Amino acid sequence: MTGFAEKTSAEVVAASFAGTPDPRLKRIVTSLVEHLHAFVKDIEPTEAEWQRAVGFLTATGRMCDETRQEFVLLSDVLGVSMLVDAINHRKPAGATETTVLGPFHLVDSPPRELGADISLDHNGEPCVFAGRVSSSDGTPLPGALVDVWQANGAGFYDVQQPGVQPERNLRGLFTTDEDGRFWLRTVVPRYYPIPDDGPVGKLLAATGRHPNRPAHIHVIAGAEGHVPVTTHVFVEGSPYLDSDTVFGVKETLVRPVTTVDDPGRAARFGVGNPFRLLEFDVVLAEVPR
Ligand code: BEZ
Ligand code: FE
Repeated sequence: MTGFAEKTSAEVVAASFAGTPDPRLKRIVTSLVEHLHAFVKDIEPTEAEWQRAVGFLTATGRMCDETRQEFVLLSDVLGVSMLVDAINHRKPAGATETTVLGPFHLVDSPPRELGADISLDHNGEPCVFAGRVSSSDGTPLPGALVDVWQANGAGFYDVQQPGVQPERNLRGLFTTDEDGRFWLRTVVPRYYPIPDDGPVGKLLAATGRHPNRPAHIHVIAGAEGHVPVTTHVFVEGSPYLDSDTVFGVKETLVRPVTTVDDPGRAARFGVGNPFRLLEFDVVLAEVPR
């Protein structure tokens, strides 16, 4: 290979990785070099701009610790998190679609009884959240685990307001009954901004983008012999459904909050009549054999 020049840069640098023993790593670094060099040739940055880009990445790294992951947030607002999600979860038709996990999930979600009220601060409009977990062929899945977490009616997660919200507010790990059903009491979540006090927030502001996500409840559902799903149910009519800053909305995941006037159902859910209801059935694909 001849020496490095503007025209040959990608080839020369890619060739320097030719001896990479791991074929997957070789493919990744080669493609990275090709795309990165094409990007730089496209924008032809000034040296000051390149320094600024390095400064941006440095600031992004400095904003990362156990509780804040600014690089994931960057991947989210660039649509890369949802692209990786789409590539890795090509579901059979009918199975519940996936979306981003987000930074507010706790691995040790508190186990709760069906019907429990997960709103410990009662900040928001009371609402029942209910659904059924089934297999792609319609078979209900008893004993399925349904992990739920959400923001309150003011648009904050418990972990964002320690000392203000009770610990484990608006979180719960539920197990479906013999018909594959789950139900719980909660509040209607509000839309909220992603953490925007760091470099990613500055990028959004500089590019005229808002930092908001539409109102949603996070769900991870899993059952024996089935592929678990990490998803949300989005509240129909919420602001920002058409412009989620992390591109997480899928039409199949939007549901209305309805008003139900049915004393029998209200009694079964342990709420007064009439009541507000958000229903979300989950369909899990079977693990391919
Ligand atoms: C969330 O929905 O919790 C979330 C997702 C991506 C970035 C920030 C928050
Ligand atoms: Fe969220």
